[in-house]
Amino acid sequence: MSAKIISVKSPKAYDIIIQNGQLDRSGELIKSVAKGNNCLVVTDTNVEPLYLDRVVHSLESSGFNVSSYVFPAGEESKTFRTVENMLGAFVSAGLTRSDFAVALGGGVTGDLTGFAASIYQRGIDYIGIPTTLLAQIDSSVGGKTGCDLVYGKNLAGAFHAPKMVIIDPDCLDTLDEKAYSDGLAEAIKYGVIKSERLFNRLLQDDAHNFINELIEECVSIKRDITENDFYESGERMLLNFGHTIGHSIEKYYDFKHITHGEAVGIGMVIMTRAAETAGECEAGVAELIIRCLHNYKLPATTGIEPEKLCAGALNDKKRRGKDIKIVIPKKIGTCTVKTLPADDLSKYIGGNK
Ligand SMILES: NC(=O)c1ccc[n+]([C@@H]2O[C@H](COP(=O)([O-])OP(=O)(O)OC[C@H]3O[C@@H](n4cnc5c(N)ncnc54)[C@H](O)[C@@H]3O)[C@@H](O)[C@H]2O)c1
Repeated sequence: MSAKIISVKSPKAYDIIIQNGQLDRSGELIKSVAKGNNCLVVTDTNVEPLYLDRVVHSLESSGFNVSSYVFPAGEESKTFRTVENMLGAFVSAGLTRSDFAVALGGGVTGDLTGFAASIYQRGIDYIGIPTTLLAQIDSSVGGKTGCDLVYGKNLAGAFHAPKMVIIDPDCLDTLDEKAYSDGLAEAIKYGVIKSERLFNRLLQDDAHNFINELIEECVSIKRDITENDFYESGERMLLNFGHTIGHSIEKYYDFKHITHGEAVGIGMVIMTRAAETAGECEAGVAELIIRCLHNYKLPATTGIEPEKLCAGALNDKKRRGKDIKIVIPKKIGTCTVKTLPADDLSKYIGGNK
């Protein structure tokens, strides 16, 4: 099958290239956009034994001087300390402003590498090679980079778009089912906010049967939204559907025992039920989302009391002063951003949990 290319035009032009097996062509692809000859491939300890050699070999075959930096896998590594160590590796690799970094891995690798690239010598290029479903359909697109602080998740970061994104769906073959479902929760989100067709397909078919089409559709939706609103002042907020409550759930469990996708799925159901009760969403949408989540073994409820969910949500980045912006569906495929006084969130969510 030929490569599918999704071009992003603004604020910086870059291509997202989707093709099975193209990890071995990454050097050749990168050659077409690289300015310098030195690069550093960043990956984590799980992805290193799976894919690092193939990418390094491909880059070297295309004439690049390649170094690598490997950090311990997991969200716990998404810290300033890792960014600092990575910057040290950039220096050791002799990267200049015309050289580039490569993020080979999931969302943690992409966010950290993009952030380090955004501040190294006031900004160098980086290439994304996402290897989880979540990273392929979501985090590798749109230029949000960053790390966690002890005060909370993703609290430090920069908007820094990649120079190219290389998506090889074959990398998903080594993901376990839980990680796969984690990414599918975000695919369900894309369906609810923008594509009834995608949502219905996720409901009626098994996503494994149409994974390339799913990646293409999700990436196109994210491209369209982030092209219009790179700095998240309007439409980009739709991508946060399920995330305000989802982050609160993740925080409640100290980012352990529950995946991001599981928490977002529950967050989507809670917000949709609340919107239905308020008469702002068609009746029955929450039930459809629950059925879709269950198709992929994702939970739809949590035992956390609504007041605790709200308290966590009100500390979220999405809060602006006295107000909070929440995303609610009107029907499958159409969502809207609603501004609520922060004190009213608890009343809006009601007894949903
Ligand atoms: N920048 C954005 O716009 C954005 C959007 C959504 C999420 N995120 C961030 O993304 C992160 C979550 O991403 P994630 O779920 O990819 O996490 P991750 O990078 O930690 O990857 C999950 C696990 O899968 C392993 N892994 C990666 N690729 C693999 C493969 N092909 N086969 C086997 N194992 C593999 C990793 O080593 C890790 O253990 C969070 O930090 C979140 O904040 C960022």
